[in-house]
Amino acid sequence: MTATIRAEQTAVFPRFLDLAYPSIERGEGVWLFTTDGRRILDACSGGAMTSCLGYGVVEVINAAAAQANEIAYYYNHHFTNRPQEELAERLVTEVAPEMARVKFTSGGSEANEAAIRLARAYHVERGQPQRWRVISPAQAYHGSTFGTLALSGRRRSLQQPYEKYLPDYVHIPPATPRLDPTGDRALAELDSLLENVGPDSISAFFCEPVSAAALPAYSPPTQFWEGLKERARRYGFLICFDEIVSGMGRVGRWLAAHELPLDPDIVTIGKGLGAGYAPLAAVLCRQHVFDAIAGGSREFDLGHTWDGAPLPCAVGLAVLDVIHERRLVERVRERGWSIHGMDVPSCRMSWMRRHRWRTSRSAWTCWSARRIPRRTATPGTKSCSRLPTRAAMPSSARWSSGLPRRSRASSARSFNSLGDNPSPRRADRDHH
Ligand SMILES: Cc1ncc(COP(=O)(O)O)c(C=O)c1O
Repeated sequence: MTATIRAEQTAVFPRFLDLAYPSIERGEGVWLFTTDGRRILDACSGGAMTSCLGYGVVEVINAAAAQANEIAYYYNHHFTNRPQEELAERLVTEVAPEMARVKFTSGGSEANEAAIRLARAYHVERGQPQRWRVISPAQAYHGSTFGTLALSGRRRSLQQPYEKYLPDYVHIPPATPRLDPTGDRALAELDSLLENVGPDSISAFFCEPVSAAALPAYSPPTQFWEGLKERARRYGFLICFDEIVSGMGRVGRWLAAHELPLDPDIVTIGKGLGAGYAPLAAVLCRQHVFDAIAGGSREFDLGHTWDGAPLPCAVGLAVLDVIHERRLVERVRERGWSIHGMDVPSCRMSWMRRHRWRTSRSAWTCWSARRIPRRTATPGTKSCSRLPTRAAMPSSARWSSGLPRRSRASSARSFNSLGDNPSPRRADRDHH
């Protein structure tokens, strides 16, 4: 097999048709090996903040093999299975004791989509069918399905040309440290939005507690969270947290929500749950959300073929064991501080110069280290990567210049006005 594959050399429908993709053969710890024998240091957890344990973790591989040997798959419409039952139980005891129930999915978009549906079902079951709208901060990324893409908020480069399929959700600006350090402005926007659309139409407020790629390491100030909590209580909408990236210990707590002064009603987790060994995510809800369904129609139907299948759930159990055994949550908490103490921007520049450090995931790690004390590095955060360098790419495919010039400019404009993202163009392209 050729070491680097271009669109015209493959039957695969690649993501960027102008990009030459190095072919990866295997991984070991923090290292990737390409088919032409190159060794690449993976600084970004599998490119999508997923492979948080590194590659080749024997315990997880053995657990997957053992489960595949027993039974890998059965549809969970009429059957359940031991790994699904055990993993759900461990998530609501070890990871999020404040949560009552778990529904598994295969990926983050599916989990977020299920969270939107669950919030809607909660209100319908309670006799409030007029509640359907979701509010989310603009400049976000919650997935690539139409429902979740609509949560992104005026990110035209992601949403075009699909806007017609997207529900009419509403957005507030993020309370970034430069433009809105107290969160007052975001709360005022929230109030006027509630007044405009009518608080009775709101189903949920949906956001990441610590943003991943869309607005790297952004987390609103305490005052905003307190204000949001008060309004959720006053107007009766739910709070949903997307912890697809920030959950499973990535910020030094099992959930980033555990550091905040409010309790979400619904939380999604993913990425670090399967740790890159199986496609696995989940939506978790509190007792009162479950009770609405249990005391009503007693159905929360619609799902996906692989939801709660034995193989991915067995992987999730093994991942949880490894996180415990290696004390990864504690270690992230301890070491996050030391990274925070470093002069991260200059460290980043020197790495970039020496290693042509181009990937935004690496930058995400650094930004998080710089901006969010105590909620910083990810388990498995390594140092840097030499994944496709700018120099190796045709100019049309470069991270920051892949979009036609006009649309890039307009997309940057459209959400630059909402926040102070350090690199809006990059974040806009590189949403995983
Ligand atoms: C915060 C966040 N939510 C949801 C998703 C979507 O997850 P998936 O790509 O598994 O559907 C992502 C993907 O990067 C994400 O970063």
